[in-house]
Amino acid sequence: MGQVSGKAAIVTGGASGIGEACAETLAREGAAVLVTDVDDTLGKGVVERITKVGGKARYLHLDVRDEAAWPGVIAEAEKNFGRLDIMVANAGIGIMAPIETMTLADWQRQQAINLDGVFLSIKHAIPALRRSGGGSIVLMSSIAGLRGAPGLAAYSATKGGVRLLAKSVALEHAADNIRCNSVHPGIIATPIWGKIPTGAMGNMRNAPIDPVERSAAITPLVRVGEAQDIANGVLFLCTETANYMTGQELVIDGGITAGGRPQPRPQ
Ligand code: NAI
Repeated sequence: MGQVSGKAAIVTGGASGIGEACAETLAREGAAVLVTDVDDTLGKGVVERITKVGGKARYLHLDVRDEAAWPGVIAEAEKNFGRLDIMVANAGIGIMAPIETMTLADWQRQQAINLDGVFLSIKHAIPALRRSGGGSIVLMSSIAGLRGAPGLAAYSATKGGVRLLAKSVALEHAADNIRCNSVHPGIIATPIWGKIPTGAMGNMRNAPIDPVERSAAITPLVRVGEAQDIANGVLFLCTETANYMTGQELVIDGGITAGGRPQPRPQ
């Protein structure tokens, strides 16, 4: 308890899944958290749960693509919490389609939320982090940002972009004591999977996407990841324990990218 006491955080896409777990974890560990999302009902629910158990949190509607809204979000954090120490740029969507048939509109929507949104999160957080004497920026990438993923070309392009964005920001702002790292989850059981329409892969694959089922087959630790597994890594990157870590990739994937196939289990 108290690993981020006295710090103030913004979590984008904090209404659901990994962002929700990040917001709750940071609050449980003593941070004041500004939860932002486009889903106001879910977002307000997260804040209610945090405050009910004595945590400090507020909710603000934010579409991460909306540059005009960003100054107000930073101001809200500084007005209510007095400072900003942590930016978790987590909001994201996954559009699945074969590259051959993907529309330009879908490609651009994917880039706008997952990449433009992360750029804006960083750009607008930096002056406030500097005013606090430094801080931690955590960018939610994916194992799809480390290697290719069929059907997820646009998504993996954004996640690979996020990976290198973290490194450039880390170098640009190390002298400000602002650290920036990327987190690379494997297959995590969150609502994101249910938002991908069945048959999105056309002839490539028509089966419904079941992360639990897929995960057991390809994950050495033989279980689907939980949002909390990722929030634990995000928390670490926001604590003083990680204060010599910047520009790095924290992979939390049950071993998927370690190489090879899962070994048979002893009977
Ligand atoms: P989720 O769908 O449960 O949560 C995403 C949140 O982002 C939702 O609350 C949604 O309303 C919000 N959001 C969507 N568009 C937005 C916008 N324009 N502005 C602000 N908020 C917006 O999904 P999940 O799984 O929690 O995803 C969080 C992040 O983790 C994403 O960046 C995703 O790409 C990444 N990720 C997820 C993995 C998984 O297996 N679940 C694996 C690897 C990465």
